[in-house]
Amino acid sequence: MYTAQVITVSDRSFRGERRDESGPAVLEMLREAGYEVLGVSVVPDEEAQIRSALCAAADEDVALVVTTGGTGFAPRDVTPEATLAVCERLTPGIPEAMRSASLAVTPRAMLSRAAAGIRGRTLIVNLPGSPKAARENLSAVLCALEHGLTMLRGAPGDCAAPTE
Ligand code: MTE
Repeated sequence: MYTAQVITVSDRSFRGERRDESGPAVLEMLREAGYEVLGVSVVPDEEAQIRSALCAAADEDVALVVTTGGTGFAPRDVTPEATLAVCERLTPGIPEAMRSASLAVTPRAMLSRAAAGIRGRTLIVNLPGSPKAARENLSAVLCALEHGLTMLRGAPGDCAAPTE
């Protein structure tokens, strides 16, 4: 079982003006898929704060970090920029698969600038912000993520897995 952390990126949820529904929706999907979800944190659409939340999760050796929100065209949508800034290696197939599957649902899927990549032993995946879009995007890739994490980290609980 791999660990996971959900980070909701939203000014309004951070200020308490809108209940975060996407974070809990993603958390539920990850739990159902067998992840040990450590929690949902909410950060504003500030690149520096997003970067530091991503780096903190990677420093804690969380296996999978999933963000929701901030992937569109609004001036404050900077989640992909924060993600690209902290990742050492990109995993473009993940957002490609999400957009490809999502285009069957809505042409607006092409408006998601979501990115994904690896920092240390942590895989970071961006999802769009609405609960519906977050669920649809995650369900397009969830089945393949565990194999990616096994390549990145070794099998969960495997004594042969690389350790620091
Ligand atoms: N993907 C799916 N599967 N379903 C959706 O409803 N909405 C799109 C897109 N991806 C959507 C989707 C829209 S309208 C936008 S603007 C972008 O995700 C970015 O969303 P965000 O700004 O909330 O991150």
